[in-house]
Amino acid sequence: MSIEIHDLEHTYNAGSAFSHAALKGVNLSIPEEKITAIIGQTGSGKSTLVQHLNGLLLPTAGSLEVCGFHIQPLLKIKDIKKLRKEVGLVFQFPEYQLFEETIEKDIAFGPKNFGATEEQASDLVHKILPIVGLDESYLDRSPFELSGGQKRRIAIAGILVLNPKVLVLDEPTAGLDPQGAKEMMTLFMNLNRKENKTVLLVTHDMEHVMRYCDHVIVMDQGNVLHEADVNDFFQNPDWLIQVGINPPSIIRLKLKLIENGFQIPDSILDEESLLKCIKGQVKICE
Ligand SMILES: Nc1ncnc2c1ncn2[C@@H]1O[C@H](COP(=O)(O)OP(=O)(O)OP(=O)(O)O)[C@@H](O)[C@H]1O
Ligand SMILES: [Mg+2]
Repeated sequence: MSIEIHDLEHTYNAGSAFSHAALKGVNLSIPEEKITAIIGQTGSGKSTLVQHLNGLLLPTAGSLEVCGFHIQPLLKIKDIKKLRKEVGLVFQFPEYQLFEETIEKDIAFGPKNFGATEEQASDLVHKILPIVGLDESYLDRSPFELSGGQKRRIAIAGILVLNPKVLVLDEPTAGLDPQGAKEMMTLFMNLNRKENKTVLLVTHDMEHVMRYCDHVIVMDQGNVLHEADVNDFFQNPDWLIQVGINPPSIIRLKLKLIENGFQIPDSILDEESLLKCIKGQVKICE
């Protein structure tokens, strides 16, 4: 079931002098079992939008259909709790959400909150650790003695352990080194490809969008500016630059080559094919 968003509005501090319309009537249909990127300039409403998907924020007008839940301005707490089992939201810098004294307790918190016994929760914790690339030696350690990247894995494990159908990630690779970011993106790709999770990803990284995502949504000042499948999205780099999006390096290289007289078809979006294409057009000097 896709995620349907109808005329969604969110105004912070509505009715006060500090009122701010962060979403101004968003309509979207987000495909299921795909990886969708949500991009856009800072302050465009990305985080506000995704926080509606698990009921962390409720619409001030409009509605959403997510995993069979109808999310509207007056959603009952009981339904929000059920929704949170289906839609896992990982904040930017999720490591700040860790609070238990051991990693095992931290990851087990969600399942226990949903009624799992000690034994069932412990079983789930043991199963989830390898999925986030950690082993059992971590379980008795304090989450606060780990590196930033390891803490983030624990926080993500705490969400995945509930086996949500939809995984929403707000800038999950921010602040990680390139290798850590790559491992994190590979984890999300595997969850999507192998376990059919629907993944929504807020990001500023166009390389990640191009390499790992299927669909792209561009937010601008509380509205949807553009929506496209990823292959179509990068076909018009001039437009991307015009709206302030820095295209991935391969696209920038392709543009330079075209400016310098090379003939490169639109469909070429990876290094191998680009190399093959230009090899046929260069005269190698002996
Ligand atoms: N709790 C809040 N109270 C009042 N205004 C808020 C609140 N959170 C966000 N805003 C405002 O709503 C707008 C959208 O913010 P949001 O955090 O959704 O943007 P964003 O696209 O996620 O930006 P970034 O890329 O910087 O994370 C901004 O103008 C922001 O200042
Ligand atoms: Mg944000």
